[in-house]
Amino acid sequence: MNQATTSLYERLGKREGIARITRSLIENHMANPLVKTRYERSENLERVEQRVIEFFCAGAGGPESYSGRDMLATHRGMNISEQEFVAVVDDAMAALESNGIDLGTRGEVLGILWSLKGEVIRV
Ligand code: HEM
Repeated sequence: MNQATTSLYERLGKREGIARITRSLIENHMANPLVKTRYERSENLERVEQRVIEFFCAGAGGPESYSGRDMLATHRGMNISEQEFVAVVDDAMAALESNGIDLGTRGEVLGILWSLKGEVIRV
């Protein structure tokens, strides 16, 4: 598999792989003392999980469309700190690694997540 010719969506294992990665991500959040209460407070974590799957699929170049709210609207008023943002990104990197995603691809996802920080932190 070559990074230049294989899409990010394919390298993440398409919808099936992204669903597995998202499951690991939520598990990591629930075990992470820095962010777990944020997700425990969610009224419908299953729906959030489905939307995160769609968000990743669409953002990685897959055919799925995202039916959730944009990042600013989703996180507005939550007063999310830099530390929480880094914790969530760490959980995402660990979820990719535990699902066998290579370093180059993890770096690519890191860049995408990092680019969204202005729409998540203290908005
Ligand atoms: C780049 C980083 C992030 C991305 C891409 C992201 C993405 C998303 C997405 C796609 C949703 C679902 C939206 C919907 O249901 O319409 C969501 C929900 C949520 N996010 Fe984030 N998020 C990020 C960072 C964070 C951080 C740092 C926190 C704080 C710890 C956080 C807390 C939450 C919570 C609590 C929900 C559920 C809200 C609800 O119950 O409706 N997110 N996020």
